[in-house]
Amino acid sequence: MSIAQDEIDFKADLTLQRLQPQLQEVWQTSQIDDVKIHEFESRLNEHWRPLFGLLFQLYSSRYDFFYHIEQVLLTAARGWAERPEDLCALDRHRINEPNWFQSERISGGALYVDLFGENLSKLREQVSYFKNLGLTYLHLMPLFAVRPGNNDGGYAISTYRSVDPRLGTIDDLRLLAADLREAGISLVLDFVFNHTSDDHEWAKLAQSGNREYQEYYYIFPDREKPEQYERTLREIFPTVRRGNFTWHDGMQQWVWTSFNSFQWDLNYTNPAVFRAMLEEMFFIANTGIDILRLDAVAFIWKQMGTNCENLPEAHTLIQAFNRLARIATPGLLFKSEAIVHPDDVVKYISEHECQISYNPTLMALLWESLATRNVSLLVQTLRHRYKLPKNTAWVNYLRCHDDIGWTFDDADAQAIGINAYDHRKFLNDFYTGQFPGSFARGVPFQENHETGDMRISGTMASLAGLEQAIEEENEEKKELALRRMLLLHGVSLSIGGIPLLYLGEEWGMLNDYDFVKDPAKAGDSRWIHRPKMQWQFLEELDDHIKAGNGSIRSTIFRSTQKLIALRKSLPALAGQDMELIATANEHILGYVRLYEGNRLIVLANFSDEAQVIEGNKLRTAGLGRFFQNVIDDKTYATSEQLVLAPYQILWLNRV
Ligand code: GLC
Ligand code: GLC
Repeated sequence: MSIAQDEIDFKADLTLQRLQPQLQEVWQTSQIDDVKIHEFESRLNEHWRPLFGLLFQLYSSRYDFFYHIEQVLLTAARGWAERPEDLCALDRHRINEPNWFQSERISGGALYVDLFGENLSKLREQVSYFKNLGLTYLHLMPLFAVRPGNNDGGYAISTYRSVDPRLGTIDDLRLLAADLREAGISLVLDFVFNHTSDDHEWAKLAQSGNREYQEYYYIFPDREKPEQYERTLREIFPTVRRGNFTWHDGMQQWVWTSFNSFQWDLNYTNPAVFRAMLEEMFFIANTGIDILRLDAVAFIWKQMGTNCENLPEAHTLIQAFNRLARIATPGLLFKSEAIVHPDDVVKYISEHECQISYNPTLMALLWESLATRNVSLLVQTLRHRYKLPKNTAWVNYLRCHDDIGWTFDDADAQAIGINAYDHRKFLNDFYTGQFPGSFARGVPFQENHETGDMRISGTMASLAGLEQAIEEENEEKKELALRRMLLLHGVSLSIGGIPLLYLGEEWGMLNDYDFVKDPAKAGDSRWIHRPKMQWQFLEELDDHIKAGNGSIRSTIFRSTQKLIALRKSLPALAGQDMELIATANEHILGYVRLYEGNRLIVLANFSDEAQVIEGNKLRTAGLGRFFQNVIDDKTYATSEQLVLAPYQILWLNRV
């Protein structure tokens, strides 16, 4: 039976009234001033009813619901009380400018602290490098303390309260955050909230037989329940272990582990878990984080008889976290990491859930277009999938630390006569270099021989043909690989949203085959595209500038840097408004970007041959007769046909 909104609001108000005295206690012990208290209370008034409604949906059937609500509120109050003054100042700013992340001036990068800078204090010396490259957003891959041995690249966290000692300390993190803020760079960290490592304190207590903590996870005495669940679950890491459950010898019980066997899924049907993770979230945010990347959002709620991905309660949960962030850390944004079907990806994106989200469909389809030299599936998909709700944005990326999965919609493919199953097989063949004529040097990830499912690992440069070209010492192929990379950057930087570089891309870093030498990494091919930064590239860059010539590396770097700078100079690239242009050429992607009366036209040729588009198309889309490509300053008249060189991308301004 559903309860009327009015009834829930009444309960919400009464609950808050009852909790007021405890709130006063927090204020007294924390000794914050009246202004700060007032700010919290006015935000609480604004968000309390919706928050209460969300938690009521999830947890009202619990006998101890009131206790947990109380704890959640007090956790939020403490989160705000402990928030450092400089972050509160930023909050005040961002409350008035909630769309700051939609600016054309924003440009992101992601990296592993150890692979890029060794540790956090060394990384502080590289802030000028990020500035030089034009970055205003930096995602550091998980840097918290992890279990010994395999830790899934930092995603098996033993405590959210300390940094991996090899990388530094929480204070180093705070110092870096402050330096970055000073340099105008927002800091992004993961909120790995679907699972903890098997050596997290909660997991250890569970292992010691503590029932309260066993309820933090999904633990089963025998195979009965796991087998019932298993009927409708998919396998995320089938080469690691079959199924989704792991036997724990010490407990003599089965544990739910969607990913690696040492990553224990948290049980969010237990409100104590929600409250505990909320406290961790505030702790992380208060070290100076602007954006939290919500890891593996699809998996956070399970229900028997479903695939336990993207369930409605997963959204309710994230919305509850979001309301609490609005109350206690209001400048904080959420970024969703949902690498799932496009219909599901978009459901996490809203100003009340995740304001920004990875765009895995665009990423996969850009690579698809390079392989097929045809943009039909990309266009078919963008046509009805690019638009987002207001006050949100895509994060557009080309490569990241994870694999590429071909997550387009089968019906989108069908609509243009493509068989999805065969097409995915083709793409896997192409990107592993099996397909005749392929330029790519990727390797398989998590091949499932039963389902035929497979994903691809490899760096951007190796997938785009640079590795092959270098090996064959073929200058022409090098040039084509370079053009492919710049084509993809040119789209990601202009199509609308936050462009995100996976650092190393700016140098065309190749696959690192040595990962197999490390037993903790050998079983996971994603390490092939997590190479160590080679700083000598930067030194060579200086030499070349002095000598006036350029290697392929320095060309890649300079061109990427230039595109980023150009993006930041073009007001039309703010926001998310994008209209496709019917180019009448299946090799050319075309769109108009619009923002507050500014317009920019983008034409991108995905074929390795020159392609033509009628000037008239440009005239009607761009409302002008002469255009200048801001990338090379060349001017075009719409009275003539436009010719795009192989893999050329044009950013056209009306002149
Ligand atoms: C996310 C991460 C991935 C990790 C997984 C489990 O998908 O991006 O690297 O393996 O979550 O934490
Ligand atoms: C993610 C995705 C999966 C991805 C994996 C990390 O959450 O769902 O497709 O490959 O975790 O590799």
